[in-house]
Amino acid sequence: MANSGQVNVAIVGLGFGAEFIPIYQAHPKAHVEAICRRNKAKLNEIGDAFGIAKRYTSYARLLADPAIDFVHINSPIPDHAPMSIAALKAGKHVMCTVPMATSIEECKQIVSLVKKTGLKYMMAETVVYSREFLFIKEMYEKGELGKVQYMQASHPQDMEGWPEYWERMIPMHYATHVVSPVLGLVGGRAEYVSCFGSGTINRRLARKSGNPFAVESCHIKIKDSDVAAHIWRFLFDTARQYRESFDVYGSKKSFEWTLVEGEEHILHTAKKPESEIPSRVTVPDYAHLLPEEIRKFTRSIQDAGHLSFIQGGGHGGSHPHLVNEFVSALLEDRAPRPNAVTSANWTCVGLCAHQSAQNGGKIVRLPAFTLTD
Ligand SMILES: NC(=O)c1ccc[n+]([C@@H]2O[C@H](COP(=O)([O-])OP(=O)(O)OC[C@H]3O[C@@H](n4cnc5c(N)ncnc54)[C@H](O)[C@@H]3O)[C@@H](O)[C@H]2O)c1
Repeated sequence: MANSGQVNVAIVGLGFGAEFIPIYQAHPKAHVEAICRRNKAKLNEIGDAFGIAKRYTSYARLLADPAIDFVHINSPIPDHAPMSIAALKAGKHVMCTVPMATSIEECKQIVSLVKKTGLKYMMAETVVYSREFLFIKEMYEKGELGKVQYMQASHPQDMEGWPEYWERMIPMHYATHVVSPVLGLVGGRAEYVSCFGSGTINRRLARKSGNPFAVESCHIKIKDSDVAAHIWRFLFDTARQYRESFDVYGSKKSFEWTLVEGEEHILHTAKKPESEIPSRVTVPDYAHLLPEEIRKFTRSIQDAGHLSFIQGGGHGGSHPHLVNEFVSALLEDRAPRPNAVTSANWTCVGLCAHQSAQNGGKIVRLPAFTLTD
């Protein structure tokens, strides 16, 4: 792999996962060796559309294929951890969509397998590769925000009508899109959380998921930092347009996400006349950070020659950045960002937050294995 200067990926789960196929195919250092999905007719449809010969309906068979260097898992949420664990045990590197797992124990197993085998694991968190995050991070690193004083992030999304397994989900168990920006910006790990449940969802969903709360709202204490962050989420029975927002308040400048999708975000600058403090900001694209061949995927591409879905462009243009980060980490033999421990910390914030909500907001400490590399 590293010697050949190219890595061979197998893409597993071809709903959201199919969006990544053309990006890997265009990447100069990646090769789509195989695809995997249980439904044979749909597997063949995608294999034919993208000209991929090697097709697996069995994940176990795929893992036995020595030509595959890593798997990119995009299966339903309950399968993420079992599939990641099986891949690491089979000697494959893993990139897996969010969240890492649905239990702390699974996160621990993945972290310890990565430590034991030396293989690489990355949770494919889209938010920290979105153009908004890259823009805010650039301002932070240049010192333009001044001292960061507070951060908040929200991910309201009405999941009615989505695949059935969402009805069994708990808001904070899918919280990485709000946890990752607040911790990722300052490079911190969550130390402890306190979360309140608010409101109630309908009885059928409450019984099915075991969660009564409509909204979960959590404060995060960042380790070795005086900054705290607030995140909130809902999945059902609450009226609001979908949004994955991230606000950062600094001593010099603050970034506030727009309230309505598609409008420009707002930058506040301190010490100006009150009416001049806020200004609308056009967030630039960060395609220039990528190999030329995959830059186009930060923007929406409609390719009539392929399947009808829109390729690239989704989630703040993050998809080609995710692909490039993991391919580069493998070839450069370095830890990907986020690595397994960071992915576990981000995922466990949500798992600990729900425990806290069930106990009236009691402080819950993050497990030690998520705090240090
Ligand atoms: N912003 C983001 O990070 C983001 C966005 C969308 C989806 N996702 C995640 O991607 C995942 C998939 O989402 P989706 O909307 O495509 O879901 P989906 O249920 O439509 O598709 C899941 C796919 O996995 C396949 N699959 C399931 N079990 C399998 C097995 N044992 N072996 C091989 N293939 C198997 C299914 O056939 C299907 O192709 C979810 O976990 C979701 O949370 C993340």
